Amino acid sequence: MHVRTDPADDVTLMPFEQAGLKYRNPFIVGSGPTSKTIAQLVDAERCGWGGSSIKLVIDPAPYINKEPRYRWYPKERFHIFTSEKRLNLEEGLRLMEGGRKHTKEIILMANITYSGPDAEGWVALSRKFEAAGAHALELNVCCPNMSFNLDIAAEDGTTRPCSGASLGQHPEAVAHITREVMKGVKIPVYVKLTGEGGSAPKVAKPTLETGCAGVGNGGTRLGVPPIDLYNLKKNLYGLQDELSMGCYSGPWMRALALRDVYEIRRTIGPDGCIIGFGGVHDWQSAAEMFMVGADMIGICTQTMIQGFGFLPHLIRNLKRYMQEMGFKDHHAMRDLLVREIVTADKVTIRDGLAIIDEEACIGCTKCELPAHCYAIEMKPRDAAQLAKAKAEGRKLSKMVAVLEGADCCSCNTCIDVCPVPGTITLGKGDYHKDKYNSPLVASELDKRCGYAEPGAPEAVATFEPSGGKIAAKLGLPGTFTSDELTDAPKVAYVTNAGTDVAQGCAVPGDD
Ligand SMILES: Cc1cc2nc3c(=O)[nH]c(=O)nc-3n(C[C@H](O)[C@H](O)[C@H](O)COP(=O)(O)O)c2cc1C
Ligand code: SF4
Ligand code: SF4
Repeated sequence: MHVRTDPADDVTLMPFEQAGLKYRNPFIVGSGPTSKTIAQLVDAERCGWGGSSIKLVIDPAPYINKEPRYRWYPKERFHIFTSEKRLNLEEGLRLMEGGRKHTKEIILMANITYSGPDAEGWVALSRKFEAAGAHALELNVCCPNMSFNLDIAAEDGTTRPCSGASLGQHPEAVAHITREVMKGVKIPVYVKLTGEGGSAPKVAKPTLETGCAGVGNGGTRLGVPPIDLYNLKKNLYGLQDELSMGCYSGPWMRALALRDVYEIRRTIGPDGCIIGFGGVHDWQSAAEMFMVGADMIGICTQTMIQGFGFLPHLIRNLKRYMQEMGFKDHHAMRDLLVREIVTADKVTIRDGLAIIDEEACIGCTKCELPAHCYAIEMKPRDAAQLAKAKAEGRKLSKMVAVLEGADCCSCNTCIDVCPVPGTITLGKGDYHKDKYNSPLVASELDKRCGYAEPGAPEAVATFEPSGGKIAAKLGLPGTFTSDELTDAPKVAYVTNAGTDVAQGCAVPGDD
């Protein structure tokens, strides 16, 4: 196998012990296509990984097992697949034996699912992997691409063995299986839960109460794939005929995965090991995962895209950050965000307004567009300002964004749509508040469009160009464009006649 990176060196060492196992560092190759051959396990060890969970072994057959079809969308940063090859019992056992024989330091876990109804089957399967040399077991109740996939679209009402993410919805069943397996083997037992159905926290608690080595927050999430709207039968994979629900993974799912780990940690408290899976691809996402409560981190998608060799770089940067912040090891980061993240009712909202740096504004109009905000208007720049800039050899746009109204609720959106970072900031103050406080001041009205409900008791406001006062009167229902309004000056639509509702259209230039 071609290894594209330097083998691991001391940089990957972040040693710790968990459940009696000595890990070189807390990074595990998540069970999947990059842990299904001996060569991959050897390669992962060379690149410094702390552990690898071998590709799912399902027993007994039959189960869904087809050649893989994958797609990676770099822009949207997700990976998707439906079709995937699993290992049968024999393949899994040979892989574990061979992996143990050809590696020295990497911790090897057996990712297993028993697809029958009884816990005894789980125990028998577990014992076989213990005998094959597995350092640990990882009970898979996470995969959404087995019975869970079938159940979602099932029309036939067929009953089938409940496995993967379907089984992972049932706290008592998962805890029972875990307990039975633990009685049957001596090696540590981890349980990989599912994020589907929001079930991970409520399953994690009874599962960890069995005394198992730890839980993982979940695997991939099932979703509708990208669709070709001009050819609905077409799917995104080469050499696959039908459309199919896809298993999503990779950086897009980071927010959901962090939430799952956070919620599990809040539910179980400080004790109990969590392996955080989902979207980790760099040192920042790794640090966040620790901070929401993970003890270890599982990564799959990034190894599919980049190979195993990005780990030393990730760890080097993570260590640099930890040193800067004074964290003596990765445990020191654990739960830091769990303590910080408050519930919605406890959020403190401070007063303030958007402040636009007129000199930096390039007049692009983007901040004027958000439909939830009528507070910004484009205005011709002050002539003196233009002249001064010209004399200094600086170029300024002819139009500039101006915060016009008391409508600003400091929501942040204009900051994010502005293409010139730093041009808009939020600041404290009464800035413009008094000037624009009156609901009947023309400049508070949006001049981009006007709309009158058909058949409603329409009202049209007129106002004087100088004073900006509006008087409501009946007439002129309909939709107005700003051009029409320019052609029909001094007329603007307001929704409720005679009231002080500040909605409608003002005439450009009148304020
Ligand atoms: C193609 C593919 C196959 C996977 N197969 C398994 C598997 O056999 N067993 C398992 O527990 N998780 C499996 N996973 C889930 C990953 O181990 C991991 O939990 C998930 O993809 C989220 O992490 P990531 O964003 O780093 O990929 C698979 C993921 C992918 C993308
Ligand atoms: S902060 Fe929000 S409300 Fe205020 S001007 Fe910007 S987009 Fe409008
Ligand atoms: S988005 Fe930024 S640059 Fe564009 S008009 Fe608004 S403030 Fe100026």
